[in-house]
Amino acid sequence: MSNKTITQVSSSPDQTHRFGRDLAARLEPGDCVALTGDLGSGKTRFVQGVCAGLNVTDYVTSPTFVIVNEYAGVSPDGKPMPVYHFDLYRLGSPDELYEIGCDDLFFGEGVCLIEWADLGGDLIPDHAIDVHFSHAGEMVRNLTISARTRLYTASEG
Ligand SMILES: Nc1ncnc2c1ncn2[C@@H]1O[C@H](COP(=O)(O)OP(=O)(O)O)[C@@H](O)[C@H]1O
Ligand SMILES: [Mg+2]
Repeated sequence: MSNKTITQVSSSPDQTHRFGRDLAARLEPGDCVALTGDLGSGKTRFVQGVCAGLNVTDYVTSPTFVIVNEYAGVSPDGKPMPVYHFDLYRLGSPDELYEIGCDDLFFGEGVCLIEWADLGGDLIPDHAIDVHFSHAGEMVRNLTISARTRLYTASEG
């Protein structure tokens, strides 16, 4: 299977948002996006773009008191697409993630967007799309997008 890696350079928060929207257009029910990178590298901004692309109308911000927020997304072709936004920054251990039933969501019918996915260890599924963010200047961020097992499979119709 294709294991292509795409590198994108963002020079503004808006551009990072746009990259998120671009990815949203390619997401299908059941997809997981594993976001990694330092604090302030743009993960939440990107998630906001993905959510905008999935027609989420709620204000999207990192879950603070819970591990996951759920939003009512709608796919570009008008089908309901639940979005689960995880932030694992405060996770004590992957066990904690397992205990909240993450597998039901990671292997469910919605889209999972997982900030600090590295803290989830082996629980992050192999079908995840990885997006890594790194600082490359005050307003510049490098995004590296790759798939663990495939790259944005075309719809099987
Ligand atoms: N090119 C860029 N892309 C994304 N965010 C940027 C960019 N340049 C500056 N920023 C700023 O960096 C911060 C990114 O914050 P956030 O998306 O919450 O990061 P994270 O979720 O990775 O901690 C915001 O304050 C944003 O305004
Ligand atoms: Mg964040």
